[in-house]
Amino acid sequence: MENNIYKMPLLGEKAPSFTANTTQGLINFPEDYSGKWVILFSHPADFTPVCTTEFMTFGSMTEEFEELNCKLVGLSIDSINSHIAWLRNIKTIEWGDKKNIDVTFPVIDDLKMEVAKKYGMVQPGESTTAAVRAVFFVDPEGKIRTILYYPLSLGRNFDEIKRILQGLQKADSAKCATPADWRPGDDVIIPSVSTLEKANKRLDALNEGEYCLEWYLCFKKDR
Ligand code: BEZ
Repeated sequence: MENNIYKMPLLGEKAPSFTANTTQGLINFPEDYSGKWVILFSHPADFTPVCTTEFMTFGSMTEEFEELNCKLVGLSIDSINSHIAWLRNIKTIEWGDKKNIDVTFPVIDDLKMEVAKKYGMVQPGESTTAAVRAVFFVDPEGKIRTILYYPLSLGRNFDEIKRILQGLQKADSAKCATPADWRPGDDVIIPSVSTLEKANKRLDALNEGEYCLEWYLCFKKDR
């Protein structure tokens, strides 16, 4: 397995399948999550400071993600025993407004780096023994929709992680795109037209709540 060469997963592709042992038992990914969004993320190591703040944040947001039909799955190149000891320790830590955090989502034991390699989580320029801070957004059909890779030193922005999920869900449900810095409730972008004839007509054929700044830059109210 160790010498297998994997290509990096790409947007729009099916999430690579795996079976793994986790703090919540065995999981078959992505099959067990059919019909749900999943955020699969890696962290460099248990019992490290940045990762601890990230787990406290993800742990405190688990219900917010549940409300968005999204499950969390964590991973590091550590053992189940290490994960269990770390999650128990995290529950005792008080950091800012976060305390008594129960991490209830599964954390994968990936000591053999099998999952990490499939997902391009081991990036030798950063480390050959620890996963980078990767985040994969997998949709209810098991397709990869967004990928983030952060270096070891940089704690992730969880506000942005939630915003990405909401933006992907909005694009699917409203068949639209979202502008820079979009937030839920903001106006969304109507898909652009594909012929000159439609471009010429577009400004004359707007529905209620729609407006254009240019023929190729049209918005619709989302309230
Ligand atoms: C951390 O989570 O604090 C960390 C882990 C690996 C390298 C650097 C920082």
